[in-house]
Amino acid sequence: NINQCQLIELNKVHNRAGNLTIVENHISIPFSVKRIYYLYDVPSNAERGGHAHKELHQLIVAASGSFRITLNDGKQVKSFFLNNPNIGLLIVPGIWRDLSEFSSGSVCLVLASMKYEAEDYIRDFQEFQKYKK
Ligand code: TYD
Repeated sequence: NINQCQLIELNKVHNRAGNLTIVENHISIPFSVKRIYYLYDVPSNAERGGHAHKELHQLIVAASGSFRITLNDGKQVKSFFLNNPNIGLLIVPGIWRDLSEFSSGSVCLVLASMKYEAEDYIRDFQEFQKYKK
């Protein structure tokens, strides 16, 4: 459920030459990364997401800039504003997500636990609500 979706503070190595952040399977995050993708050049008025996953675990990071992620588990809604490359949002399976308010130049980095499978998506909100009952 939605309470299993948490902000995770990632390890950061900071020095005069800048910052470096590390994500390690089963250390920083409770799954193994099988796929990475990133959203960029998203118009400021665009909405992304608008679906849930049946099995997929994800960590979402604002690698640059900021955006909002709104989660819904069929009972509760929770909204997170991501604006720190050092903090990721863990999203467990069975959660509807909407992404919005992308800042100019933002990069939404997604670490995912499985390869892409169209069958893992629920793209209809009514179907999602039925699935959660
Ligand atoms: P989608 O997951 O709906 O994007 P978002 O949640 O950011 O709005 O994916 C958009 C399109 O890209 C969709 O047609 C499927 C395709 N896609 C792939 O082919 N492989 C992938 O790994 C991902 C994430 C998407």
